[in-house]
Amino acid sequence: MGGMEFNKIFAALLVAGIVASLSGFISKKLVHPEELEENAFHVEVAEGGAAGAAPKIQLPEPVLHLVAAADIARGEKLAKACAACHSFEKGGPNGVGPYLWNTVNKPKHHASGFSYSGALTANGVANWTYQSLNYFLWKPKKYAPGTKMNYLGIKKPEDRAAMIAWLRTLADSPAPLPSAAEIATEKAEFAPEPEETAETAAAEEPAAGE
Ligand code: HEC
Repeated sequence: MGGMEFNKIFAALLVAGIVASLSGFISKKLVHPEELEENAFHVEVAEGGAAGAAPKIQLPEPVLHLVAAADIARGEKLAKACAACHSFEKGGPNGVGPYLWNTVNKPKHHASGFSYSGALTANGVANWTYQSLNYFLWKPKKYAPGTKMNYLGIKKPEDRAAMIAWLRTLADSPAPLPSAAEIATEKAEFAPEPEETAETAAAEEPAAGE
């Protein structure tokens, strides 16, 4: 009993000693005026650099608000890039990719007889919602890692809107245009960087005044 008590006291003293010498060492470091100045300077530079190199957005710019007024003819023209792999007629045929009749707001994997990779539905979203199409057409391999669709994606938001607007026409009864709720959800989920928001707002102002 007595021995244990002694050990505890000894350990406590040891710890106190270590803490005291450590804190003395640290406070010397902190208080040293030259080093302090130097550190402050470095911190400033680092912060400036970090702000300059803001990380790029990892999600596509929202486009659903553009679909209703999008240039359908432009979408059809852009679809020449898809025609190497896809046909657009009702019932197919399938090529390297599945035929693309009746896809917008419809279940994925619609083309019978096509052997899908399974990557398109791996995220648990069963339909080609407008929002999914914007993401998928932006960067197919990012939306669906492991997809068989070897296509880099459509960079410009206006072009994706035009493509989606055209795809929508490929149906006996085209899906309703994106609803206000769908547009708002997409904007909330694909929120761009603050700088881009300012840019987008500026670009939208004239249109709102029309
Ligand atoms: C190099 C060939 C290739 C090109 C080019 C290509 N695709 Fe695809 N696409 C595919 C393949 C293959 C799949 C099936 C993907 C899978 O199963 O993972 C697919 C799937 C799709 C699907 C899903 C269809 C479904 O039934 O679920 C859509 C929508 C689509 N592509 C649209 C497009 C559009 C729009 C373009 C042009 C901008 C395009 N693709 C360009 C090969 C291509």
